[in-house]
Amino acid sequence: MNFISKTTLLSTIFICSLSSADSAWAQTSMHIVPKPCSVVQNNNGVFEYSKTTDVFVDSQFDSKNVGSILSIYKHLNALFFNDLNFNVRNVKASGKWSGASGSKCITIKKNDALDAEEYKLVVDNKGIAIESATEAGLFYAFQTLMLASKLDNHSSIPYMELTDKPRFEYRGFMLDVSRYFMPKDDVKKIIDCMSMLKLNKLHLHLTDDNGWRIEIKKYPKLTEIGAWAANRNNQDFTDRYPSNIGEPTPVGGFYTQDDIKELVKYAQQRYVEIIPEIDMPGHSNAALAAYPELACPSVDVPITVVPGMRQGAGSIIYCAGNDKVFTFLEDVIDEVASLFPSKYIHIGGDEADKDYWSKCPRCAARMKAENISHIEELQSYFMRRISNYVKSKGKSVMGWDELTNSTLPEDVTVFGWRGLGNAALKAAAQGHKFVMTPARLLYLIRYQGPQWFEPLTYFGNNTLKDVYMYEPVQPTWDKNYENLLMGVQASMWTEFCKTSRDVYYQVFPRLVALSEVAWSPKGSKDWNGFAAGLDNVLQHLSAKGINYSEAMYNVQHKAVPENGKVKVSLSCDRPDVEIRYTTDGMEPGASSTLYTSPLYIESESEIRCATYKGGVKMGQTLNLNIGWNLATGKEILSSSPSDKVLTNGIRGSKKQSDFEWTDWYTKKDVSFILDLGANTDIKKVVLGCLSYSGMAVCKPKSIIVKLSSDGKEYRESAAKEFSESEIFKLGNFIEDIPFDISDGKDVRYIQVEYKYAGDCPAYYIKNGQQSRCRLDEIMVY
Ligand code: ACM
Ligand code: ZN
Repeated sequence: MNFISKTTLLSTIFICSLSSADSAWAQTSMHIVPKPCSVVQNNNGVFEYSKTTDVFVDSQFDSKNVGSILSIYKHLNALFFNDLNFNVRNVKASGKWSGASGSKCITIKKNDALDAEEYKLVVDNKGIAIESATEAGLFYAFQTLMLASKLDNHSSIPYMELTDKPRFEYRGFMLDVSRYFMPKDDVKKIIDCMSMLKLNKLHLHLTDDNGWRIEIKKYPKLTEIGAWAANRNNQDFTDRYPSNIGEPTPVGGFYTQDDIKELVKYAQQRYVEIIPEIDMPGHSNAALAAYPELACPSVDVPITVVPGMRQGAGSIIYCAGNDKVFTFLEDVIDEVASLFPSKYIHIGGDEADKDYWSKCPRCAARMKAENISHIEELQSYFMRRISNYVKSKGKSVMGWDELTNSTLPEDVTVFGWRGLGNAALKAAAQGHKFVMTPARLLYLIRYQGPQWFEPLTYFGNNTLKDVYMYEPVQPTWDKNYENLLMGVQASMWTEFCKTSRDVYYQVFPRLVALSEVAWSPKGSKDWNGFAAGLDNVLQHLSAKGINYSEAMYNVQHKAVPENGKVKVSLSCDRPDVEIRYTTDGMEPGASSTLYTSPLYIESESEIRCATYKGGVKMGQTLNLNIGWNLATGKEILSSSPSDKVLTNGIRGSKKQSDFEWTDWYTKKDVSFILDLGANTDIKKVVLGCLSYSGMAVCKPKSIIVKLSSDGKEYRESAAKEFSESEIFKLGNFIEDIPFDISDGKDVRYIQVEYKYAGDCPAYYIKNGQQSRCRLDEIMVY
């Protein structure tokens, strides 16, 4: 029996009478996000909710649970009219499936032949018919109905037949509540949005250097001390120094155990499983500020909850040689295991700096006793010991991909984050399940659009389109890896967030794109269709009071020198907008010149541009000022392609990865050559140089400028050496470094040499890290 014939059990025949607006709506193609496996739209009508809609529920489902799904559906769909009611009736196996005479109804049937989370849906002139094997499938059918509804009238759903099930069992979002403590009601809003997008795993990063966020009854100092940091909110995360001993610590917060229970229940009702993460052995400053006796005795600095970058604090770590550490963590796990019904506990394992371990007599004794020859294997000992305990509680362990650096705990599920997440494949090769959350694509802390418009973060773009286009399964993979891949996760680290609005801005709309990667069938990507469906989702976000980024509407520029000119290309990820621009310094408008192909600039210019849709301005105005000097448009001879920016006439911003700065010059001396194209008399060379102490970007040890007429013989013309305090000056600023040229006759080639400044000094936020340089422009006069 096919699905359609089952629904004919509904007795009422609806006589179609559509308004012309409805008719037009029924004809337009729907773009449900995440895209279902199959949708057939029957362009001949719409279902309208009435004030009371009858819902007939197969008695194999618990009608109370269905009632609760319906009330969540109503609550999530804030765009419904207010007084919509569902009249839920239980239908025994032998009962009648019929609506009240003359009205359309919803029928819900259990179909055990379907997969968990799968559902079938028909909307036709009899009403709405849903089949699923589980309540989760049912819940997702209603989410689909919500996103299929008419944009201006959410009580109206076009006729369609739809079958749908997820691609991955693990469809995750990680929220870092350590760096920014998100109040529980705001976490609930995120859970609402996850469930609307059919995401089902909320990985809560509950502990880190910057705050311990979960009440543990046996260790009250974890939240009395570990949840609170000094107030450095007037500084960017990268500029914040650790607290001083005795300094007040007013910033932070934690979830009580009752809060956790409330969140877990709220999530469960929305088919979201919360997976707690207790990070170890590194990222443990907050815990060790509360219980410093659990750190290695080799730690020789005061331990505080750090309000910013980890600085020297980054190497503080639980002592692997102290049995009290394991007792403590086991006690913590006891309470965590009983609070979270999830089968999983995530035990971190990322970025554990082993400096103190290598100086610690207790850790040395442990290595000897356990016959461990390498310090990395000490981490393996640590993780395996905790993992065995987690398993003894009937749970499974998860951890970050650093666990593949040494012997893996048995049965651990590995989260691939470094590089393109490929470290997780080392675990897959050993038969472990894994989840992909590659930093380069799915970390939502990265910039989501043209960086000049975005709030400061570390570096790098993961645009909405980057997230959407992500395909975790690579053709080069061993066949078995795909079976071990549980799914994908977007991860939101909150270092740069001071409010929940800051978090929402970073998360949305990229989490919407992730939902398609996680749910929709492989190979079904359709960026244009997604963009249309996204607009519908965004309406729902607004109705819930969730703000989101519109970076997708901003213009990204690319300017490169080409034969003495500057070629400027403009682009926007949204497929449904026009870019319009001016070159007279005026604000662009809907009738300004339409951008169709790259512009070739030959002198100092101002380009102003923005995107428009239907005559309405969508993104922000990009002001592109192109300066001009003897170097502009000229060729750079260098092995690094990014060095081309040096002569494009456009200055960089204080955002180090805005594509106007060269790649990092690090670890070694570097040099490039500017070819002026013809012999020229010059008097001055100026280099635009970025300093950003929070990211170890600073001046080089010295710069040498050499000149040549023939490209063979070079003479040193000018040089500058910098003192340590000049190189490692604190802050985020741009400096123009001038070189007066006294022997600049008939110069064609200018060679610039940068001498590496070495590691950052102890007082620097990034102490011990290799320093790096970035230039935006070479200017010649
Ligand atoms: C991580 O980004 N440290 C997992
Ligand atoms: Zn130790």
